[in-house]
Formats: sequence, structure tokens, C-alpha cells
Amino acid sequence: MSTLEHNSENAAESLSFRHLLGADDVSRNDLEAILDRAAQYHADARSGRPIPAICTGRILATLFFEPSTRTRFSFESAMLRLGGRVVSLEQGEASSVKKGESLADTGRIVSAYADLIAVRHPQAGSAAALASQALIPVINAGDGANEHPTQALTDLYTIRHDKGRLNALTVGIAGDLKYGRTVRSLVTLLGLYPDVRFVLISHPSLQMDAPPANATITDNIADVIGDLDVLYVTRVQKERLKDAVEYEAVKNAFTLTPASLEKSKKDMILMHPLPRVNEIDPAVDALPQARYFEQAARAVFVRMALLALMQEPAPVTD
Ligand code: NCD
Repeated sequence: MSTLEHNSENAAESLSFRHLLGADDVSRNDLEAILDRAAQYHADARSGRPIPAICTGRILATLFFEPSTRTRFSFESAMLRLGGRVVSLEQGEASSVKKGESLADTGRIVSAYADLIAVRHPQAGSAAALASQALIPVINAGDGANEHPTQALTDLYTIRHDKGRLNALTVGIAGDLKYGRTVRSLVTLLGLYPDVRFVLISHPSLQMDAPPANATITDNIADVIGDLDVLYVTRVQKERLKDAVEYEAVKNAFTLTPASLEKSKKDMILMHPLPRVNEIDPAVDALPQARYFEQAARAVFVRMALLALMQEPAPVTD
């Protein structure tokens, strides 16, 4: 793909959404456009081709009211790689929200200082609240236990890259399915493909509230591991559990080791949105199934694709 071809692609018009608040904003066409663009950026990076600076003159605001390493850095790195710039609130508590300003007002105000916002906040619905008065596109980078749609896009990128398809797959999702926002977004996005079968593996107290109709539910990973094409593991969301007693009861529900993967298909891929705590023994990292570090590294290409495709014509200010 040459620079010319890149530049001739129309940016904003190909997506059906303006704000990305949840995975159900994304149509199958949107998804394919984002993953295809991410694949181009990935190929460019691999071959050392220069990335077209299509966000030159644009500013991304990252507003983070919760901890983050991958999401914030990969968003910021993505914008910088596209020639844009970044203003960042790393500790949202240091903002005027602390003084009582509403998220809606914050959205309106930041709209004057940036061209796109990525926001993470502990409350479900916070990204939508911020978007309600924003004059520029808003991306939900995680709202409480609700959604994390850009993580799901990243996850689907790795599944498509490594398995060659998104349909006709048996996908095991293990860990904290109740409070894990990445899981909710992942299930919605994979739901665009009717032949995906889900196997939901967790301690009964951490099962999904509303599992998809075609899901198998179990608390025993050993019983199902041999059926899976993808195993997606998540951390127990300690910060969202009601109390420490509840956490103690579930925190070590399982730890995957090389032995626990012996019965898996040879081409099964093991994913995790990271950070991991006790769910995957570091001895697993050297196995061919382990894809979580690649998954995290590829996030930058997916976020580049999103920023490129979501950018709007330059605003006119009074
Ligand atoms: C996830 C999150 O923030 O929901 N992290 C991430 O963005 N990769 C998963 C987690 O924190 O467990």
C-alpha cells in the first residue's frame, strides 16, 4: 500500500458512528473498515514504510480518571504516529470534575481544546455523559464495568490476524465476566458473526449477567479447553467487587500453566487484555499459543485506524 493509496481513502465518511461509546455503535462494515485500515498500518510498520501524517494539525485529548498503561499510551502513540498531537489528563481527579463540574460540561469545554476525546472513567455511562454536550467525537476508553469498545476492536484484530477469520470460531472467555468491561464489548462485537460460539468460564459469582443465547456456561476450564479456538482470559476486577471477602473467594479461581494448556488445540490462541495478575503463569509466555503481548502491541494500529477514520473536517470556531 503506497502513501498515495492511503491518502486517497476517504476518512470520516466510511464509519456509521460519530461517537464510539459502546461496541453496539459498530456495524460490521465499520468493523471491517477499521480492521482493514489497522492491517495497512501494521504492514507499513513492519516494512518500514512511512505512515501518512493524516492527523497533522489535530489534537487528541485523553481524559483518564482511572489507571491505564496500554490504553492511554497506545491512543497517544497512535495520534503521534499519525502526525497529530495530544493533551492529556492522566489523573482526572486533578481536573475541575473534582470541584463538581459535570462530565457534560467537561465535554463541552474540552471540545474547544481538542478535535477528539478518549475518556476513561469509573462510572458506567460516563463516556455518554461526556459526549452529550461534546462538540467533537468522543471515544469510550472504558466506563466502569460497562464497556471498553476499543479493546474489543483490538481483540478482534488479533483474532482475525492469527486465525484468519472472525466467523465459525469457538471462543472461551474466562475470569471475571461480571465486572469485566472488555468481555461485554467483546461479546457484542463478536456477535456480529452468527457462527461464533461462546464458552463462558468463571466462578459462578462472576458469571455474565446476560450471557449470549448460544453460550455454554461452566466453571471448569479443563472440561472445555480442548474445544476452543480462542481462549480469552481476564483478571478479577478487584476494584469493582463489593468487598475484600468477595475478592479473596475468587481471586485465585484458576491460574493457567503450561500443563493446563496441554489439551488445547495446537492452533488455539490465548489472549488477555492485560494487566494479568494471577490468571496466567509467566511460564506460559513462551508457548506458541500465548498472544497477549502481540495483542497489546497491535492495539496501536487499531487505535491509529480509529483516529484516522473518526476524524472530522477541521472545526470553524467563532
Ligand atoms: C482492561 C480494562 O481497563 O478494562 N485493561 C485494558 O484496557 N487493557 C482490563 C483490565 O483492567 O482488567
